[in-house]
Amino acid sequence: MTQTYHSVAIDGPAGAGKSTVARAAAKALGFVYVDTGAIYRTVGYHMDFLGIGPRDTDGVTRLIGDANIQIEYDPAGGQHMILNGSDVTEELRTPEMSKIASAISGQKVVRDYLLEMQRDVARKHSVVMDGRDIGTVVLPHADVKIFLTASPEIRARRRFEELSAKGEKTAYEQVLEDQRKRDEQDAGRKIAPLKQAKDAILLDTSDFTPEQSVEAVVRLVREKLGPL
Ligand code: DC
Repeated sequence: MTQTYHSVAIDGPAGAGKSTVARAAAKALGFVYVDTGAIYRTVGYHMDFLGIGPRDTDGVTRLIGDANIQIEYDPAGGQHMILNGSDVTEELRTPEMSKIASAISGQKVVRDYLLEMQRDVARKHSVVMDGRDIGTVVLPHADVKIFLTASPEIRARRRFEELSAKGEKTAYEQVLEDQRKRDEQDAGRKIAPLKQAKDAILLDTSDFTPEQSVEAVVRLVREKLGPL
């Protein structure tokens, strides 16, 4: 008997709370959570380590094949990015890596390299996958597509609080400005830009607590898929 796997695509701009919501929704549904931003960040980290700038197409093309990227999960469902045998997860969520990941994700060679890796996870598991182009490009036939957003000020405020909690010294205005640039770059690029899929449900979480956002996503999935 072939097993049927389900897929939930969650796209949206930086700081919309995608990772928090997608991770908790995956846990509630018993699905695997895939944070695709972390995969782009891993490629950015690899190039940065090798001294290659994210816009250096020749350098990136030459060295992307040297990035052996694996996704592993800990017992609590946390996603770990393994780059050439080392766990680099902790290095990835810095403002610097956000900028590098956003710039490098505009390179066609990078998107092509990562496409099959992402689809492969969805072929083997039921997934909640979050990113920018999941509903439009990676999983165009996803069972449920959600475009998660919130006002720019609220998204920046959440990111600022997340960074402050980690002890990163930064100003709210700086976070807001970095976010504006990243949104512009992610939505303005030629290949697989950030955009709402035609059949995606828009969920604005500006006035939601994280718990309410998770509940809303789980409800939408259960309505669509019935008892799992
Ligand atoms: O979700 P995130 O902030 O960790 O993503 C980092 C960058 O990676 C984001 O600015 C754009 C890029 N990205 C992408 O182009 N496509 C995806 N599916 C996920 C992320």
